[in-house]
Amino acid sequence: MENKKLNVLIVGSGGREHALVKAVKKSPILGKLVCAPGNGGISKDCQVADVKAEDIDGIVKLAKDGMFDLVICGPEVPLSMGLADRLRSEGVAVYGPSKNGAVLEASKAYSKDFMKKYSIPTAQGTNFIDVDSAEKYIRSAPFDVVIKASGLAAGKGVIIPQTRDEAVDAAREMLEGEAFGDSGKEIVIEEKMEGEEASIMLMVCGDKYIMLPASQDHKRVGEGDTGLNTGGMGAYAPAAVATPEVLAAVRKNIVEPVLAGLKNEGIDYRGTLYVGIMITAQGPKVVEFNVRFGDPECQVLMPLIESDVLELMNDIANGSLDESKVKISDKFAAVVVMCADGYPNSYRKGDKIKLPEDSEIPQGGWIIHAGTKLDGDELVTSGGRVLGLTGTGSTLREALDTAYALCGAVSFKGGFYRKDIAHRELERQK
Ligand code: AMP
Ligand code: GLY
Repeated sequence: MENKKLNVLIVGSGGREHALVKAVKKSPILGKLVCAPGNGGISKDCQVADVKAEDIDGIVKLAKDGMFDLVICGPEVPLSMGLADRLRSEGVAVYGPSKNGAVLEASKAYSKDFMKKYSIPTAQGTNFIDVDSAEKYIRSAPFDVVIKASGLAAGKGVIIPQTRDEAVDAAREMLEGEAFGDSGKEIVIEEKMEGEEASIMLMVCGDKYIMLPASQDHKRVGEGDTGLNTGGMGAYAPAAVATPEVLAAVRKNIVEPVLAGLKNEGIDYRGTLYVGIMITAQGPKVVEFNVRFGDPECQVLMPLIESDVLELMNDIANGSLDESKVKISDKFAAVVVMCADGYPNSYRKGDKIKLPEDSEIPQGGWIIHAGTKLDGDELVTSGGRVLGLTGTGSTLREALDTAYALCGAVSFKGGFYRKDIAHRELERQK
C-alpha cells in the first residue's frame, strides 16, 4: 500500500481550501487533486470542478465518478448537512466529522449541553426557545450576558450587549426569527467572559489527536481591533498567550474530556476540532467549538506541519493516527488578509488583481486566494476577503515581514489590509 497514490478531492472555495491545496500538493503520495468548487487562484494550482460545497448529491457523485480515495471537507455547512456520512456510506474516506460530530458547531445549544454533561470549563449559560423565559433569565442573571444564535450564522451569531435591555432585544430578534432566521430560533444566553482569546486546532481520530500550534486571529476590520466583525483579517501562530501551562490545562480539562465525551456519545470523530478558548483568571474556558479549520487560521497552520499533511489526513480518515509520526515545525507563520473596498459591508467586485511572478515570491511566502475568480484568463476579485498573504520565518517578525512584503507586491483597486496583525504578541515581546 505504501506506494499507492491517492486521488484527493478538496471541498470548498476559500482561503482555507487554497492553503489545504498547497499543503496537500507537497505530498509525494498525491495522485490526482481536484477542488470543488475552488476559486480563481486555486484553479492555477489544481483542477477545479464546478460543484458547490453545499451540493451534497453533486459532491458525492463527483467523488464516486472520479474514484477519489479521499475527500477533505473544508467548510462546516456540508459537514452539518451530512456530507461525510453520505461519502462514508459509499465507501469513500473523508477527513471531516459525520453529522453527529458536526453538531458541536451547528448547534451551540447542543454544545453547551455537551460541555455541561462532561464538566468542560465554559461560560455558565442556558438554552432558550421562548422570549419570556429568556427575558427573565437576562434580567436576573448575576453576570453580564452574551446572546448567541444556536445555529450556523457564518460567525455573526453572537451579540455582546451593553445593557440588559439591549440583551432582551437581541434575544427577541433572534427568537422571533428576524435576526438569523431558523439559526436563531434557539439561543444560548451565557456569562460574558473576560480574557484573551486563542484558537486551538486539533486533528482528531477518535480518542487520538494532534494539537497544532495555538493561533490568534483578528476578527475586527480596523486596526487596534476596532470596527465591524469580519471573517478574520489575519492570524499568526504560535500564539505565545497560550503558554505551556495554558496548553497543558487545555489538554487535561478540555480536549481529553471532550474526546471521551464524543466516544461516550458514540461519535467516531475524524477531522479537525477547533476549540476557541478564552484565557480567563480561572484558566482556559471554551468559547466555541468548530468542526473544521479556522479561516484564516488554516493558512498559518498548514505551513507549520512538517510531516506529510495528506498522509496524516488520510490516516485519520481511515481511522488510524500515529501521533509519533507527526512533526510540527518550530517556526512562526502569519497571514494578512487583503480585502475588497467596503468589506465587511457590501464591497467592490470584478477588479483586476496584479500578482508577482512565482519567481518573485520570497522563500516562506504563500499567496492564498480567498475571493478571486477567473474572468477569461484574468484573475479578478469576487469576494470580500480576496487574498491571504502568508509568511513563514524563524521569528514572528520575519514571518510578518514576508507577509507584508507580499502585501506590497499584490494590488487591486480599493484593496486594504490591517497593518497591525499580531500586535498583541509584538507588544508582549517588547
Ligand atoms: P463564537 O461564534 O461563539 O466564537 O463567538 C464569536 C466571538 O464572540 C468570540 O470569538 C468572542 O470574541 C465573543 N464571545 C463569544 N462568547 C463569549 C463569552 N461568553 N464571553 C465573551 N465573549 C464571547
Ligand atoms: N477565523 C475564525 C473562524 O474560522 O471561525
